[in-house]
Amino acid sequence: MTDFAQILLDRDKAETARPIYSVAKQSLEAALARLSEQERAWARTHGFAAQPGRTVVLPDAGGGIAGVLFGLGDAGKQTDSFLAGKLSSELPEGLYAFAGDPPANARLAALGWLLESYRFDRYRRANGAPARLASPHGVDRDEVLQVADAVALVRDLVNTPAGDLGPDELEAAAADLAARHRAEIFVIGGEELAKGFPMIHAVGGASPRAPRLIDIVWGPADAAKVTLVGKGVCFDTGGLDIKSSSNMALMKKDMGGAANALGLAAMIMKAGLKVRLRVLIPAVDNVISGGAFRPGDVLRSRKGLTVEIGNTDAEGRLVLADALALADEDQPDLLIDLATLTGAARVALGPDLPAFYTEDQELARAIEGHGRNENDPVWQLPLWERYHCLFESKIADLNNAGSSGFAGSITAALFLKRFVERAKSYAHFDIFAWTPVARPGRPAGGEAQAIRALYALITDRYR
Ligand code: BES
Ligand code: MN
Ligand code: ZN
Repeated sequence: MTDFAQILLDRDKAETARPIYSVAKQSLEAALARLSEQERAWARTHGFAAQPGRTVVLPDAGGGIAGVLFGLGDAGKQTDSFLAGKLSSELPEGLYAFAGDPPANARLAALGWLLESYRFDRYRRANGAPARLASPHGVDRDEVLQVADAVALVRDLVNTPAGDLGPDELEAAAADLAARHRAEIFVIGGEELAKGFPMIHAVGGASPRAPRLIDIVWGPADAAKVTLVGKGVCFDTGGLDIKSSSNMALMKKDMGGAANALGLAAMIMKAGLKVRLRVLIPAVDNVISGGAFRPGDVLRSRKGLTVEIGNTDAEGRLVLADALALADEDQPDLLIDLATLTGAARVALGPDLPAFYTEDQELARAIEGHGRNENDPVWQLPLWERYHCLFESKIADLNNAGSSGFAGSITAALFLKRFVERAKSYAHFDIFAWTPVARPGRPAGGEAQAIRALYALITDRYR
């Protein structure tokens, strides 16, 4: 795993570092005036006009690097606060520091730098070392490192192919995290799963890699109860309603909700927040065999509601429903689920913007605000009750798939909500957990989504 502490160095290392001059359009002339005549000419030769993300390396007399010009664009315009992260992959190896005016949000610039430098090196060695950064003034280096580590954990889990990350390995990752923070971990499988969590048992039943429910508990019993539930479908073939090859291609990432729940738990435990944390992960493979659950089957859920299977590919809501029912039983103060639940959420909002649902509008505003502050944006969609009619069953309490395909992300959210009654506050996140095309601080591949916003929220509420 990437050792971020070797990339974001202590602030006192800044003296020996090469300076990065961040320049907004408004201060271009003043910034150029401060350079030597030669450097100024070099900047002009390269057409440097403080364009957002534009980088020009200034040479010194000996052929080394005197400094770096970095364009911030229009000072009044909001840009991606991870923009400076690009520098970690663009600059030659060596140690750098922001000089003069750092980017507007130095904390996110440093975090973006680290997140840009992430490499998934399980199957081949990464080539070229990322540039290093001396921690900017006023930035809590330890906190930035801790957040970057949590994001890297999420990315590693999502990027690992399903062949190397089944329910066993997901459990091992959870157990490893629990051990590092002295949390308790319980794993429910076998007959106990069949009795207490019939839908997790049914969905996972076709795979030789046995289904299970992972349950992590941490923190004092009398603190506010925060419970995270993460969809842990290690591979989603669609089941008997099999996916097309193009739709199946990325389905190693269908445990992205579980990975994100573990990443958020890592941040909460590392920071020692005053909460009673519980993490529930239904870990299954949705695959095909003679033991597979079938279209038309009716499952009796943990909660007692019966669910007719309209589509075996709508498996996420089934395993989550049983986990949410358990979570709800101890009346958490805050219940959050994270899941790569629907393609429809991606059609609506694209890969960058996870949808979330809650009836608690105060919570919604707070989550959105933290999302903006943390450069971890999320977008609320409505729990439109009248769409309940879209997934009615003629023979059971509910059908797991809509008949029309309309409002697919909303109907999935409404389905989940039927299994939550006692939690004081509940929010569901329909995430993509993947960056298709690299952007600053966001290399292509597995991605943490919504958890930095949620970490800020939980820190704010339960510090
Ligand atoms: N894991 C998928 C959802 C998904 C697909 C997320 C692509 C991200 C990208 C989920 O299990 C699924 O297959 N959902 C179906 C539901 C439908 C059958 C009601 C979907 O969204 O098409
Ligand atoms: Mn599916
Ligand atoms: Zn799925």
